[in-house]
Amino acid sequence: MIQVMEYEATADLYKDAAQMVVETLAARPEAVLGLATGATQVPLYRELVELYGAGRVSFRHATCVNLDEYVGLAPSDPNSYHTYMRNHFYDHVDVDPRRCLLPEGDATDLTAAAARYQRLLERRRDIQFLGIGRNGHIGFNEPNDELILGTHVTGLNPVTVADSRQYFHGSQAVPHQAVTMGVGDIFFSERIVLLAIGEDKADAIARALSGRVSTRHPASLLQLHPQAIFLVDQEAAAKLSADRKRVPARSA
Ligand code: F6R
Repeated sequence: MIQVMEYEATADLYKDAAQMVVETLAARPEAVLGLATGATQVPLYRELVELYGAGRVSFRHATCVNLDEYVGLAPSDPNSYHTYMRNHFYDHVDVDPRRCLLPEGDATDLTAAAARYQRLLERRRDIQFLGIGRNGHIGFNEPNDELILGTHVTGLNPVTVADSRQYFHGSQAVPHQAVTMGVGDIFFSERIVLLAIGEDKADAIARALSGRVSTRHPASLLQLHPQAIFLVDQEAAAKLSADRKRVPARSA
């Protein structure tokens, strides 16, 4: 059963999330960290960069693997997830850039690129961070009749394209396709930690924890993972019953 931690203060949520990374690397410095992008993850990277600056964590032996990348965007593109990861995290810590992996969104043969990325995922992740789309997507596994287990090229849902618009710099249009880890890839992690902030995510969080599983709400599949935890603020937890969530020690 997914553990749900509801935070009064988002600063505490991010401190606890960062602490999970610190503990993972303390136990296994060569751990594989599964990372996400999006607005929700930015404060987590800020916290990790601070902890690194304070000498509390090192990423020197770690491998980082990201969930997804937009199709058509080169790593140097200002709107790519490659750029996001460098700006928010990789350029500020001691991780080896050769062990920072993201799908190739600009490959000429995207199917071959997805298969190449899939092979890089053969080491089980120690921890996988996720955000959640308003439509319940995880990575870019969008609601559908079927979900794909492995890394693949996918069309983006109109809700996802609309929600991404606010993060795009300049006049560049949001791509309508991405390369994403599949749900099987996401599950190939010892622990899964999903972060959600704000009332926009309340319905998606409630449905993900409803006790029902549907490919029409990909995050609901996480209920089948043995070690998944959701860290949510009060707004994102607003549609959960009181007995479905716990208040963590920091917020108590
Ligand atoms: C990003 C990703 C997406 C986001 C989700 C939430 O790598 O895989 O699933 O986590 O769209 O995005 P934000 O945090 O911007 O609301």
